[in-house]
Amino acid sequence: MTAAPRPGPVSSPIMLDGSAGGAVCVVGAGYVGLVTAVCLADNGRDVRLVEVEPTRLGMLQQGRSPIHEPGLDRLLAGVVDQGRLRVTGDMAAALRGAGVVLIAVGTPPTEDGGADLAQVRTALDAAIRHAEPGTVLAIKSTIPPGTTASLNRTLVRERLPLVMCPEFLREGSALSDFNRPARVVIGGDDAEAVERVAALFGHLDAPIIRTDPTSAEMIKYGTNSFLALKISFINEISHLCELTGADVDAVADGMGLDPRVGRAFLGAGLGFGGSCFPKDVRALDHTASYHGQTMWMLKAAIEVNAQQRRRFVAKVRDSLGGNLQDCRIAVLGLSFKPGTDDMRQAPAVDIIRHLEDLGASVSATDPVAIPKAAPLLGATRLVEDAYECVRDADAVVLVTEWPEFAALDWVRVAASVRRRVVVDGRNVLDGHALAAMGFAYRSVGRRAILPD
Ligand code: UDX
Repeated sequence: MTAAPRPGPVSSPIMLDGSAGGAVCVVGAGYVGLVTAVCLADNGRDVRLVEVEPTRLGMLQQGRSPIHEPGLDRLLAGVVDQGRLRVTGDMAAALRGAGVVLIAVGTPPTEDGGADLAQVRTALDAAIRHAEPGTVLAIKSTIPPGTTASLNRTLVRERLPLVMCPEFLREGSALSDFNRPARVVIGGDDAEAVERVAALFGHLDAPIIRTDPTSAEMIKYGTNSFLALKISFINEISHLCELTGADVDAVADGMGLDPRVGRAFLGAGLGFGGSCFPKDVRALDHTASYHGQTMWMLKAAIEVNAQQRRRFVAKVRDSLGGNLQDCRIAVLGLSFKPGTDDMRQAPAVDIIRHLEDLGASVSATDPVAIPKAAPLLGATRLVEDAYECVRDADAVVLVTEWPEFAALDWVRVAASVRRRVVVDGRNVLDGHALAAMGFAYRSVGRRAILPD
């Protein structure tokens, strides 16, 4: 292959000719792998998706998605039907004739907060055994800065160029994020390999950042950590708003209009959860420690995020007179955010367990996440119907901002609860309308609104 690109990020809004050189093999059918495979197939690529977990594999081969992601089921069924996406458990067969292999396996957290690279190593070993020389390997999994460079030392001997191509998809809007990315980042020392990967995304109207692998890795961690910092910052401000009488939504709007600040990710609430932010902030902190650096801001973001959940439980307790013993609490929302059934690091789990520890009995509902929540919440009554969930409740607590909950018939809710108390963890309900129905309404970083 050819000489390395010039070091340092170069941003260019180029549109390549799309010649990706053969089929694309995607390894791992988690969020990133599955969405990437389906979208590339939908864009006309010949894609093979490798999944080793038998239940997942079986569902995918029937064209059914194992995860809830808006629009994915339909698109998946279409590309499987048309033969543009083949799902297999056979890595050797999938690699035959592939021009690019995208590795999108999980990098779950280790006990000490690092990233477990076992699945990445297994995928690379398989690629070394089965890929033809010159096949470009690209890692989409989130791996700590410096990892690609160290893995590359082995692969160079095998004549398999390795590139880092981080992923920025959000759950719940993954398809549109894939098709309209803010940027594509490709880190590699082999210019031809970088271009082969760039060609896969060349049809997208997005700047492509070509850089070295370690900077590509750092861009991913830096982005997620910075967004997590923003969330924790506004949450810390929200507490001070409560102490001083300011309104955090007005504050965030006012701050956000300054283009240097930006309104995105200044949503005060219950803090960040999910499969990325909590894990990535800790992993970056872990990498820093390995290099002898202490990243105070990351530690603070993690602590504020944990505090925000504890403070919310205290708010629920205070709204019921300081004692939750024998109180019935109805929790609206379980998934870590709307639009997904993902329960990883969902605030609902910590909050419900804490409420139960304080003596409350909890009913909870969610439009899609109950099957995934059930194994985590053994003592909790999980019900599909929100009206059933709130019946005889002493407090209704909103944890995930599904639009369905704002759209409930709150007059009907008012008629069926035992006490009219609402605690809104996401600031999405209409507090004045609720107060007019007789509810005492509390939210995050704003004054309570009480009935007349
Ligand atoms: C995130 C990144 O956005 C994405 O680029 C990366 O690839 C994976 O991690 P995701 O975890 O799907 O995506 O969700 P996101 O919408 O970013 O929200 C993350 C968490 O922050 C959620 O728990 C959400 O509720 C919380 N959040 C987000 C806030 O509390 N306030 C906000 O203003 C925004």
